[in-house]
Amino acid sequence: MRTIIEPFRIKMTEPIKLISRGSRKRLLKKAHYNVFLLDAESCCIDLLTDSGTGAMSTEQWAALMLGDESYAGSKSWKKFEATIKKITNMKHVLPTHQGRAAEGILAQTRVKKDDIIPNNSHFDTTRANVEFVGGQAVDMLCGEGFDIRTEAPFKGNMNINKLEKCIRENGPDKIPFCMITITNNTGGGQPVSMENIRSVKRTLKKYGIPLVIDACRFAENAYFIHEREEGYGDKSLLQIAQEIFSYADAATMSCKKDGLANIGGFLACNDDGWAVDFRNMLILREGFPTYGGLAGRDLEIISVGLMEALDYDYQVYRHATVEYLGKKLKRNNIPFVQPVGGHAVFLDARAFLPNIPELQYPGIGLVNALYIEGGVRSVELGSVMFGKFDDNGKEMPSTLELVRLAFPRRVYTQSHFDYLAEVIEKVWSKRDRISGYRITYQPKFLRHFTCHFEPIQ
Ligand SMILES: Cc1ncc(COP(=O)(O)O)c(C=O)c1O
Repeated sequence: MRTIIEPFRIKMTEPIKLISRGSRKRLLKKAHYNVFLLDAESCCIDLLTDSGTGAMSTEQWAALMLGDESYAGSKSWKKFEATIKKITNMKHVLPTHQGRAAEGILAQTRVKKDDIIPNNSHFDTTRANVEFVGGQAVDMLCGEGFDIRTEAPFKGNMNINKLEKCIRENGPDKIPFCMITITNNTGGGQPVSMENIRSVKRTLKKYGIPLVIDACRFAENAYFIHEREEGYGDKSLLQIAQEIFSYADAATMSCKKDGLANIGGFLACNDDGWAVDFRNMLILREGFPTYGGLAGRDLEIISVGLMEALDYDYQVYRHATVEYLGKKLKRNNIPFVQPVGGHAVFLDARAFLPNIPELQYPGIGLVNALYIEGGVRSVELGSVMFGKFDDNGKEMPSTLELVRLAFPRRVYTQSHFDYLAEVIEKVWSKRDRISGYRITYQPKFLRHFTCHFEPIQ
């Protein structure tokens, strides 16, 4: 059959509503033109994030009832630990309430002032955690990753030459670990090849530098490897994931993505010394090592979700939904990052709105236009999110100005995507009328979440 179907049927529904255009305008103004500050019920299609927004399966709801809420050594913890060990084969597993808690523990225990942490592209929370303790978060994405029109298969790859140069120039002592993010969320949700992960590991090994995988979308990345990399077509997604983790010394994970859970995360590692430091910090910040920041029922849900994310049919459907929107945009020559990522379509705001100067935030212009046009909530990944300043405090534009339409897992159906395509096409047809924005308030860290804007008339 040509038609790829959702590999599930719907047992429970949640109403969504499109409020009037006037209300959308009024509420956006009240939210200081920052969609993070809107109430969820005023958004019709909410694509702000794929993080923690998925629908649970019947198996997960059933598992929830098995939650053992004992403080220490619960049955749910045993399952959680066993599942993560099965996938990662790592010696130590530490549950955290979400990904950034794992990143925080990693940064606070391993990064010193002026240390350098290379990554293909740091996610905003990863960068913030490294910088918070005085480290430098350095991105080393491969060349194709910056070319948003090239149809290369693994645009999330790390630039090995840059990595090697960085190690030679700064010395391995300045680099307590190197990270690689799979898939590369900030660079368009693009995958990293097994060959690249292997090469990164080979390079680091020469200098004794550990590799930490930011594994949030490890199952989506495994699917891309299965489909695109020679030698992996006959392997299961679990086998591919196991090989990925075999090259890592540690991993941080937000189970809100490929854990198919609404909350949760973990930190895993092989080194006994690291584990002692992590555990001490975990107890201080999150909770006892057998529950971390989670309830027993969450541990159960994640144990099921991690394995469901590795189900091949689920990944076929998931990728088909993202590609479906991509094809519609391509037909209308609407600029977006190609090929589409694993969890999202990234519109190219710079090409969409060439009249808006970079520091008047074309991404925010586009995000707000999508909300006003059709109640669609998206997110800017550009000069606001990655706000960079030179040594004199002058703001610098981001390399890419993207708007991410992130797809919650197992939530929206094909007609929702048809509607979404229609909204984007409408905004595209009126693009000359969209204005830029200026920032009127911003906090010190992670400014995009809470900053205020006003339109430049
Ligand atoms: C690549 C990546 N790393 C880390 C995180 C942080 O995870 P969390 O939101 O659970 O703290 C995210 C969240 O979106 C992410 O996409």
